[in-house]
Amino acid sequence: MVHPLAVLSSDPWRALSQLVDGPLHPGGVDATETLLSRAGVDGGTRLLDIGCGAGDAMALARDRGARAIGLDRDPRVSAVVRADLTAFPFEERCFDVVLGECVLCLSPDLEETLRESARVLEPGGRLALSDVTVSGQLPEMPPPIDDLLCLDGPREQTDICRHIEHVGFEIDDVRTHPEALLAMRDRLLEPLDTERLIAALGDRGTQLRDGANDLEAAIETGQIGYVSIVATHRP
Ligand SMILES: C[S@@+](CC[C@H](N)C(=O)[O-])C[C@H]1O[C@@H](n2cnc3c(N)ncnc32)[C@H](O)[C@@H]1O
Repeated sequence: MVHPLAVLSSDPWRALSQLVDGPLHPGGVDATETLLSRAGVDGGTRLLDIGCGAGDAMALARDRGARAIGLDRDPRVSAVVRADLTAFPFEERCFDVVLGECVLCLSPDLEETLRESARVLEPGGRLALSDVTVSGQLPEMPPPIDDLLCLDGPREQTDICRHIEHVGFEIDDVRTHPEALLAMRDRLLEPLDTERLIAALGDRGTQLRDGANDLEAAIETGQIGYVSIVATHRP
C-alpha cells in the first residue's frame, strides 16, 4: 500500500483538490470575484490564469465576457495549457491581465514568473495576485507542510512587492486577508480524520501533528498571512 504521506508529498495540491471542492485558495470564489474587479476584468479582457488548477477563476472571468486561458503543469480541465510557471508559451504582449491565485509561492523561481508575466502583458496590463506571506523566521515544518506552503524563498510581503516592482510593475493596491486564511485552515482540516491519519503515519505522525500545531499558531498570530496585490505593467 502507498504510504499516505507519500501521496500527500508527491503532489500536495492535487491531493488536497480531491478532499475539498472549489478554489484552492483562501477566500474562495468571493476573493476571486473581488480580485477580478480590482484588475478591471470585463468583456473582452484577455486573461491568463497561471497555476489555474481546476479552472474556477477562468469560469468566473468568462462569465464577465473575458477571454480566459489557463496555464498549469497539471491540467485538470480541457483548454488549459500545460506549462511551467517559469516559461509561458505565449507571445509578448498578448494579455491584458495575468491572474495568479495562491501560486506564486509554488514557483521554482519567483522573479522569473513575474518576468514572464510582464513579458506577456500589454503595457498598462494588470497583474492580479494573491499569495501566502511569512514574516520572520518560522519553526521548521515537516513535509508535506513545508511543500504545501513553500516556506522557503522570498515570502515577506515587502519582498514580494519589491520583486514585482523590480520587473517593471507599479503596485496599485495591496490588501491582507487574515480571516480568509483562518477559514481556509478550517476548510482543509475539517474533512480530515486527524487522529486516524496520525495513527496511519506511525512515528512520523507525532512530528506531523507538532508541525500542524506550529502552523496553526503562526496563522493565529499573523506570522503566516495572505495578501492580494494588483499592479500595472509600466515597462
Ligand atoms: C494552490 S493551487 C491553486 C489553484 C488555483 N489557482 C486556485 O486558486 O484554485 C496551485 C496550482 O499551481 C499548479 N502549479 C504548481 N507548481 C507549478 C509549476 N511549477 N508550473 C505550473 N503550475 C504549477 C498546481 O498544479 C496547482 O494547480
